[in-house]
Amino acid sequence: MKAHNLSMESFWLPFTSNRAFKKHPRLVERAQGMFYFTPDGRQVLDMVAGLWCCNAGHGHARIVEAIQAQAAEMDYAPHFNFGHPAAFEVADMLAEIAPAGMNHVFFTNSGSESVDTALKIALAYQKERGQASRTRLIGRERGYHGVGFGGISVGGIPYNRMQFSNSMIPGVDHLPHTHLIDKNAFSRGLPEHGIELADELENIVNLHHPSNIAAVIVEPVAGSAGVLMPPKGYLKRLREICDRHDILLIFDEVITGFGRLGDNFASQAFAVTPDIITTAKGLTSGTVPMGAVLVKDEIYNEFMSKPGNAIELFHGYTYSAHPLAVAACKAAQEVYADEGLFQRAAEMAPVFEDALHSLKDEPYVIDVRNYGLMGAVELAAIEGQPGARGAELVQKTFDAGLMIRVTGDTIAFSPPLIMEQSHLQQAVETLRTILRAL
Ligand SMILES: Cc1ncc(COP(=O)(O)O)c(C=O)c1O
Repeated sequence: MKAHNLSMESFWLPFTSNRAFKKHPRLVERAQGMFYFTPDGRQVLDMVAGLWCCNAGHGHARIVEAIQAQAAEMDYAPHFNFGHPAAFEVADMLAEIAPAGMNHVFFTNSGSESVDTALKIALAYQKERGQASRTRLIGRERGYHGVGFGGISVGGIPYNRMQFSNSMIPGVDHLPHTHLIDKNAFSRGLPEHGIELADELENIVNLHHPSNIAAVIVEPVAGSAGVLMPPKGYLKRLREICDRHDILLIFDEVITGFGRLGDNFASQAFAVTPDIITTAKGLTSGTVPMGAVLVKDEIYNEFMSKPGNAIELFHGYTYSAHPLAVAACKAAQEVYADEGLFQRAAEMAPVFEDALHSLKDEPYVIDVRNYGLMGAVELAAIEGQPGARGAELVQKTFDAGLMIRVTGDTIAFSPPLIMEQSHLQQAVETLRTILRAL
């Protein structure tokens, strides 16, 4: 159907200026490999893997066939008191690639659900082990943990909290963000400055007393707020402080999981093991909605160690481990392994880094940062109109056949892991031309 035949009114788009979008819709209706195609057949290079999720590229035959076969075999299976063998198999596959000692998986349908599930597991665990006073949660400024009430409460993006400010869950503190642009601009890989920002955790913990803190949640690399890197040594220090005070550390790996940083998870890329990992997106290469929370054995075992056969956790979703999601997950994980895509991401990372940093001297560019296949080019805001330059770029790049993601005036890149050098070159040169003409 052509765009001009559509009524654009009914669909209320998420996280979008509906009025601006409906005046100038950016529609795609087909995707293959590294490209989307518009209804009028224009090719658009995907440099964000959809929305940080299609790590295997679009329309991978093996994943498509697995979903089709599962739809024909069994449409739905309940996982409250029943089970589908493939779901157990996929949980084993995830435990296999998770950091050592994280052998338990709770399935959800999205990143937001994974985050709220992780927070609930953390709170319930503290109670189960007799530390019921540990109820406080610590997030971070500029953190994004989805849109559930738990997620926005520990999240640190002001606009996401603004309309709901009286309805946050209580007892949440925030660490300072790690974006020290004055000191770290144009860092290649992890920035040198800022490890001391982790020490603020010690201050927050001491203020409330460790016996009241349940968990800390951070994205190893903050994605949605503009790709903010952890300074060298920062995550390790967070881990040490959590260990010192017996506090759980949750890594929200909804973006950083499944090869984005050149390893299974950021936890392995940075050699820092949290107690809980939240995932979604690349879990199924974005093909069917699914999330998963990976949990350390000690936590799972605490729930299982109680006498009797009562339900251990009063939590779950109708679609936890939905058969289509499970089929997509299994196929995506097999594709990642068989095609060596995480290794490929690691190999392409230096090429990606050089390409992004080649934009350093272009107009308005105030920072370029990268790790693995995750990167950002930050532009100076137009005086008094933050975000306007970014919004203009989304339209101009799309018109020029390039899909990017913009947060404010920061352009984020997270290409499918199948990206070739020619795609990278096309993306960077398109952007360069547009920046010079702005
Ligand atoms: C780190 C992180 N956590 C949670 C979410 C929320 O995921 P979803 O949109 O699938 O609910 C996102 C989405 O971008 C994310 O980047």
